[in-house]
Amino acid sequence: MFGAVKSTIVVPGEVMYVLLPQQAEQVLANVADHPPIFLRHLFHVDWLWNAQENEDGADWIGELVHFLSSDPRLRGSKIAIQPRKSEGALWSGSAAELKEMLESRLTELSAEFVVRDAEYIISVFASKDCIFAGVSHPAYNISDWNGGAVRFQREEGQISRAKFKLLEAERVFGIDFTAFHQALDIGAAPGGWTSFLLERGLNVTAVDPARMHPSLVSSPQLTILRKNAGEVKFKDNQFDLFVCDMSWSPKLTAKLVSELLYALESGGTAIVTVKLLSKKPMALIQEVTAIFERSRMQVQRAKQLFHNRDEITLYMIKY
Ligand SMILES: C[S@@+](CC[C@H](N)C(=O)[O-])C[C@H]1O[C@@H](n2cnc3c(N)ncnc32)[C@H](O)[C@@H]1O
Repeated sequence: MFGAVKSTIVVPGEVMYVLLPQQAEQVLANVADHPPIFLRHLFHVDWLWNAQENEDGADWIGELVHFLSSDPRLRGSKIAIQPRKSEGALWSGSAAELKEMLESRLTELSAEFVVRDAEYIISVFASKDCIFAGVSHPAYNISDWNGGAVRFQREEGQISRAKFKLLEAERVFGIDFTAFHQALDIGAAPGGWTSFLLERGLNVTAVDPARMHPSLVSSPQLTILRKNAGEVKFKDNQFDLFVCDMSWSPKLTAKLVSELLYALESGGTAIVTVKLLSKKPMALIQEVTAIFERSRMQVQRAKQLFHNRDEITLYMIKY
């Protein structure tokens, strides 16, 4: 997307600092228009403190507070402060303490400090030798959650952690699940996704040779088929939502799902997780999406959600 990129790894596998040969506004708009698959969060570094360039005991906190206090956008605004830190960081307290400290030192902004729905986000990352800080509109952070870590409370009686993936897809892709009526859930057991769809008021057909959780089996909105997905047959256009979380070979999953897509009506939505077993994930994602595209599926988003481990989630619409 950017041609030459100079990057420094701040936390291996987690955080990097990149220098791009474009104006910040252009970069941020470009990323917002073409959401990346693997990058979870981004902020423009407006302010950088490098310990090597400053004497011991120099007051980075005072300088940061001064920098933020003089930003006219922040005056009287709804602001979320999102602090993060690496091990052995220049800030020795917790990230929560960093946030509290900044909030208490920024009172002259007359801002309202919020967690969600902020007008501006102040991002601060403390590493071993640098403090990176930036002020941005939430739309330019890829995610308005701190570091893109979308956290949900575990509910009492929650059937599986897998449910978080669908809750996150709902938020991140902006899908209104209550607008659907008939859902097909392939690889449904033990039933986290099925329970989510039932809660949104849908009728669900769950396909899995494994057992569904006992709390679900008597639901009048649920049909359970204890079968392999290769053995089931449906009517054409029977469903308006198709979900699949089979944790199986990605290409075989794509093939199997494609063979069942006759049952999804045109305009219907599909959410499919794809395991990334290969060392070349981008090539694999291209192969898998090509299989779906041959089945009249248009990929709206492909994203490694916070709750995806070695997989991505595809959000597709049938045309
Ligand atoms: C990761 S679990 C699904 C978790 C589920 N989404 C939830 O929220 O509880 C994967 C499931 O896929 C099922 N599965 C794997 N291959 C399948 C196939 N060919 N047909 C149907 N189900 C399959 C497994 O039996 C397993 O229950």
